[in-house]
Amino acid sequence: MTTQAPDGNPGRVNYDALPAINPELVGRTVVVTGAGRGMGALFLEELARRGVNGVGGDLDQEEMATVAEKINANLAGTSGAGRVVGVGADVTDPAAGDTLVATALREFGRLDLWVNNAGVFPQAEFTDITPQQLALTYGVNVNGVVYGGQAAARHFRTVGGGAIVNMASVAAVRARPTRATYNSSKAAVRHLTTCMAVELGPDNIRVNSIAPGYIDTEMTRWIREDRAAMDRALTTVPLRRIGAPMEVFGALYFLLSDSARYITGTSIPVDGGSQHV
Ligand SMILES: NC(=O)c1ccc[n+]([C@@H]2O[C@H](COP(=O)([O-])OP(=O)(O)OC[C@H]3O[C@@H](n4cnc5c(N)ncnc54)[C@H](O)[C@@H]3O)[C@@H](O)[C@H]2O)c1
Repeated sequence: MTTQAPDGNPGRVNYDALPAINPELVGRTVVVTGAGRGMGALFLEELARRGVNGVGGDLDQEEMATVAEKINANLAGTSGAGRVVGVGADVTDPAAGDTLVATALREFGRLDLWVNNAGVFPQAEFTDITPQQLALTYGVNVNGVVYGGQAAARHFRTVGGGAIVNMASVAAVRARPTRATYNSSKAAVRHLTTCMAVELGPDNIRVNSIAPGYIDTEMTRWIREDRAAMDRALTTVPLRRIGAPMEVFGALYFLLSDSARYITGTSIPVDGGSQHV
């Protein structure tokens, strides 16, 4: 199985499928926020392909429902595949997490795994950062992780544990012009992850983050469409290519699986080595 590269892909992305299998995940249920497109949509589909039922939440309820239908249609002939449902869920709303938990329990009768994936990526010169940009970015990227994590943890406590993965970024450990809002929000996600892991560990709740570099999604379309920006970006990537969502999925699948059962509070970079440059 090979995931098709989106139109206009510069051909520098490896879209090959990943063969990893974690049989213990079959029959479990995941919530993925921001699953209406990009990595979140791919995570939902690839987990379902491997037998994990999923609830996807995104801002636009109709778009999310359409994506869920497409995923189910794509997997209709795949033996052992899970099923997904899509619901409207704005992660800046403290109540959204409870809706996602309730949906998982109603549709699948259990909830084991949670991915705080929703994110926004603003850019502005430091002196041009507006209160609205700050509020939106921290609201989605930081508060959204707190609220989602709270809903997940409250449920996981009642069932003896669970695994949470937060989407941080290589931006968490980097400083770049025009990125103060985004990078500081992702630094917060990275540290929140560790704080959550320390506090929730005694309840057998593992919390880790993933730190992607440049990944080929709508969020980074501007790089793909600007040859000079792409060349500049690639000078900071030792592997000299941008990553595919599937390559981030590899780390996610590992962190959610029992193979990672003694790993918590850490961040796995999936960045072609760019955090070192
Ligand atoms: N693409 C990259 O290069 C890259 C690199 C590092 C980290 N990340 C992080 O990975 C995650 C996924 O990124 P992506 O590239 O797939 O992004 P994307 O922009 O393609 O998708 C993000 C999704 O989040 C949703 N969303 C935004 N605000 C929301 C809200 N308030 N409530 C619910 N959903 C909301 C959007 O509707 C969208 O479907 C983000 O947290 C992002 O910051 C991306």
